[in-house]
Amino acid sequence: MSAATRKRVAALVSGRGSNLQALLAAKQDSYEIALVISNRPDAGGLEIARGAGVEALIVDHKDYGKDREAFERTMDAALRERNIEIVALAGFMRVLTPFFVSAWAGRLLNIHPSLLPKYPGVDTHARVLAANESMHGCTVHLVVDKVDAGEILGQARLAILPGDTPETLAARVLELEHALYPPCLARLALALSPR
Ligand code: GRF
Repeated sequence: MSAATRKRVAALVSGRGSNLQALLAAKQDSYEIALVISNRPDAGGLEIARGAGVEALIVDHKDYGKDREAFERTMDAALRERNIEIVALAGFMRVLTPFFVSAWAGRLLNIHPSLLPKYPGVDTHARVLAANESMHGCTVHLVVDKVDAGEILGQARLAILPGDTPETLAARVLELEHALYPPCLARLALALSPR
């Protein structure tokens, strides 16, 4: 697939950016990471983007006070100006409003550290251990108005080991995330028509 037909993807980050790194490193034919936006000026993901020669933008949610839609309109305008076709959330820690979710419906995906529909929300690893689950994992899904719901695009699972802590589990799930996210994004990019 030529550069002209690769889908232009923006990754939205808030922190360390290890999933962004995995999306960049995977070198899939069907997509390119053309832009990274962070809502936090200190996010590690910004450095990762710059290191890969990808434009890194800061849209600081704090500049918009309680007006979440105004924050999103700034991001939306930046995405459209750059002809972005798919938005991949990669550790983006803001809940999106119906404005943004409907603007990018079917083209907005997320990775979540649990086997959805089980354990939406935060602190998944500790909650999975507290519930004595035997299996855990991660999910890539389309984003809809309800948090961590939406069509599941892929899942990867692992067995919980005796002695696992939230930290050991998080580390093993993160490795699975890095393997799962690029092919899921690549499949979506192949399936979608250009925007
Ligand atoms: C990952 O565990 C992801 O599943 C969750 O936030 C974390 C982001 O990590 N949504 P990173 O910034 O990609 O390293």
